[in-house]
Amino acid sequence: MEKRQELYAGKAKSVFATDDPDRVVLQFRDDTSAFDGERMESLARKGMVNNRFNAFIMGKLEAAGIPTHFEQCLSDTESLVKTLTMIPVECVVRNIAAGGLVKRLGVEEGRELSPPTFELFLKNDALHDPMINESLAETFGWATPQQLAEMKALTFKVNAVLKQLFADGGLPLVDYKLEFGLFKGRIVLGDEFSPDGCRLWDAKTRDKMDKDRFRQGLGGVIEAYEEVGRRIGVDFT
Ligand code: C5P
Repeated sequence: MEKRQELYAGKAKSVFATDDPDRVVLQFRDDTSAFDGERMESLARKGMVNNRFNAFIMGKLEAAGIPTHFEQCLSDTESLVKTLTMIPVECVVRNIAAGGLVKRLGVEEGRELSPPTFELFLKNDALHDPMINESLAETFGWATPQQLAEMKALTFKVNAVLKQLFADGGLPLVDYKLEFGLFKGRIVLGDEFSPDGCRLWDAKTRDKMDKDRFRQGLGGVIEAYEEVGRRIGVDFT
């Protein structure tokens, strides 16, 4: 496998072509962004930590029968993945009220959500990722009803696997965002799963152990990510 030209640079990752059109290289950078890219900072070790963290999680999800784009780690900061045609819809599941839900609906942060909620957002920085629904996604052609149903089912399947995994490490999984794409006509989990795209609180202290540390200027961002990884068995060496 030969790494070729850069195809796309996102806020935290870059995508490179390879000599195989069905495979691309994801490079996890140290760049950290918040508020739709309004705040950007470089945090040492973040690329390595998120690459290893993501590889570990994707492995757990594959083992549970969830199709993912992940193929293999290539280096500390690079992974080989399947080339997906991304669906521009973000799927968010919440087990505990926090963040956008608290702001939007005025519910109390920390309230257990039973059953967990499912929300869709359009992936569009310029519009600040507005909330959408199945009807809008279908009408505007972002995803078909069948694709949306599958994405929802897979997003909840991920919840069953990861809620338990993090709970075993003393970390309630508060909420998370997933992105899916198409590979040879099949819905596959893409992007990454790391503390950049989920909320995890320490069960005892309720300390935030995720990207909210960056968003809220709490410090110790990467140290918290490493602590989460250590508790669930990620190997950072
Ligand atoms: O901001 P909000 O509360 O809606 O975010 C819900 C979850 O989705 C959080 O875990 C957040 O980190 C994640 N998210 C994300 N990328 C976005 C929007 C939300 O990773 N663009």
